Amino acid sequence: MTLQEKLTETIQYIHNQGVQEVEFGLILGSGLGELAEEIEDKVVIPYANIPHFPVSTVVGHAGQLVYGTLAGKKVLAMQGRFHYYEGHNMQVVTYPVRVMAGLKAHSLVVTNACGGVNESFTPGDLMLITDHINFMGANPLIGKNEDEMGPRFPDMSKAYDESYRNVAKEVAASKGLHLKEGVYMGFSGPTYETPVEVRFARIAGADAVGMSTVPEVIVAVHSGLRVLGISCITNLAAGMQANLNHEEVVETTERVKAEFKSLVKETLAKL
Ligand code: HPA
Repeated sequence: MTLQEKLTETIQYIHNQGVQEVEFGLILGSGLGELAEEIEDKVVIPYANIPHFPVSTVVGHAGQLVYGTLAGKKVLAMQGRFHYYEGHNMQVVTYPVRVMAGLKAHSLVVTNACGGVNESFTPGDLMLITDHINFMGANPLIGKNEDEMGPRFPDMSKAYDESYRNVAKEVAASKGLHLKEGVYMGFSGPTYETPVEVRFARIAGADAVGMSTVPEVIVAVHSGLRVLGISCITNLAAGMQANLNHEEVVETTERVKAEFKSLVKETLAKL
């Protein structure tokens, strides 16, 4: 079965559940999943029921699509995403973004938890993603290009939409929130980085390191979607603090989730 044939079946199923027009796709990373609870007139579709959809293996990820209205916009949110480190290939990791594009979404709002590399960052900071470095050792567009989906050689010069970033900055300023800005460097995981990898990331120009987002943004750009990316700095990256653990990542996202949710929601209202 071709990708297009699978997508047609997936989209048909999602339409049959009552999903109509979609403006914004939302990928809610660790700690931000709760934002989906604020969606009005919800249609909830568990991943397990969706034809050709992978099933998330990460604890703490709900694993469902939530469709409805958020901040006056028609959104399709992923409550829980697929990571490369789970063993899914890159086409699988990014399949939901293809689905969003197939449902005619024009934009993607993507969030994540990540480690701070920039020495001026503090755990709990929110960071607007200005650009990324794909250091995952793979690219979701490797393979035959489906020309009707997007170009063979996509231009990544403006992956993170500048006018969307300006809106997020204005919203943050109006809330008195010190929104950081920076470059996200994607590693495959599941190990956290070594201290030297973090030093390398900083020299390379990264402000934060994480294990997601890059594949989804590549496919979003390929599909012609405008992208807004916001990270939560949950910890300082390896070598910058005593040790790293997933508990701290969860604790930090819990601590700042109210702020994170309101920033995303209020920004969405103005996009
Ligand atoms: N590195 C990679 N991914 C992460 C980190 C980190 O320090 N924190 C949260 N996700």
